[in-house]
Amino acid sequence: MPPKSRFTRLDAFTKTVDEARVRTTSGGIVTIASLLIVLYLALGEWTEYRKVVVHPELIVDKGRGEKMEIHLNITFPKIPCELLTLDVMDVSGEQQVGVIHGVSKVRLLPADEGGHVIDIKALDLHSDEDKAQHLDPEYCGECYGATPPQNAQKAGCCNTCEEVREAYATASWAFGRGENVEQCEREHYAERLDSQRKEGCRIEGGLRVNKVVGNFHIAPGRSFSNGNMHVHDLNNYFDTPVQGGHVFSHTIHQLRFGPQLPEEITKKMSSKSLPWTNHHLNPLDDTEQITQDPAYNFMYFVKVVSTSYLPLGWDKEMYGLHSGQDNVGIGSYGHLNDGSVETHQYSVTSHRRSLNGGDDAAEGHKEKIHARGGIPGVFFSYDISPMKVINREERSKTLTGFLTGLCAIVGGP
Ligand SMILES: *[C@@H]1O[C@H](CO)[C@@H](O)[C@H](O)[C@H]1NC(C)=O
Repeated sequence: MPPKSRFTRLDAFTKTVDEARVRTTSGGIVTIASLLIVLYLALGEWTEYRKVVVHPELIVDKGRGEKMEIHLNITFPKIPCELLTLDVMDVSGEQQVGVIHGVSKVRLLPADEGGHVIDIKALDLHSDEDKAQHLDPEYCGECYGATPPQNAQKAGCCNTCEEVREAYATASWAFGRGENVEQCEREHYAERLDSQRKEGCRIEGGLRVNKVVGNFHIAPGRSFSNGNMHVHDLNNYFDTPVQGGHVFSHTIHQLRFGPQLPEEITKKMSSKSLPWTNHHLNPLDDTEQITQDPAYNFMYFVKVVSTSYLPLGWDKEMYGLHSGQDNVGIGSYGHLNDGSVETHQYSVTSHRRSLNGGDDAAEGHKEKIHARGGIPGVFFSYDISPMKVINREERSKTLTGFLTGLCAIVGGP
């Protein structure tokens, strides 16, 4: 026996006597069983360690000067594109003319003829469509007393019907069908309008606005500012040869604010089987509103909640950088290189009323009295929530946690 060293006394793992070290069959079985259990538990611990969970957090949104993309796809089966205008305004009431956008108007056949697409035209919020080339280079069309538009084909002139209409709108004059306006008669504006009367229209695409309280609306006729009022030229809408008139029945195929979360991410989130975390769901998608009354107004009040999604391995350095993405194309705003997504969820309440006022007695709500007046159309006003949701992907366990768990399992038997 070697001489007892000073450390021998410190040995906490004292040895058992030799009699306790006999191997038996039952001991072997227990060993195998416990080995299997250890293996099973260790495997469980490993999957737990590798698992990625999505961890939601709520913070006050301190982002500033950010933009937001509105993606819309709405069908109006009973109004021709020629009559529809889309206006975007923000909190100051000022019309947003400089918004980057990619919105198109899609002409649709009447519903009883199948409702197929006739033609797609990119919508310019201040368009110069159908520039008829005039043969005479000296030609300078009259603006009938209105100020010629600034982006006219030929400075100081109104060479097309469109330009006359634009000049009229700037001067806050109602335009109507363009009778006695030479340019419009030459372009057969009234006939063209009447030939499209039975068509429907789909407005689809996206636009980028400042992330402040605002609204956008789709209403008939050109809009113009009259003093402090925002007015639409409604003559062509109400004065129509179509039976029953035009109505603002509409189907919202899609309305979202910011990018759609990728499929895989929504799958990951829904795997938690919490029905209230349906981040991919936009509440207005595939909804329909119907009316028979041309003078009818639909309003949607939308509360927008910023939501970011940070995948595993997101880059802290890049966080928040999307606000510098001002000149990327429509549809890519909010996507960062590290895979994180900045988007928005929303909640919505809606309201509909006839512009003639009256109560909802027909629907059994005699107590609901509506105001009179207003513009027919579909109005969306949106408000930005001060709170922001961050969904962060995380490993459910750290490495040390995993090792500790492993030791507990192995050490157990
Ligand atoms: C808009 O919705 C219609 C109907 O669902 C669809 O056919 C069309 O492709 C959509 N447009 C865009 C730009 O997504």
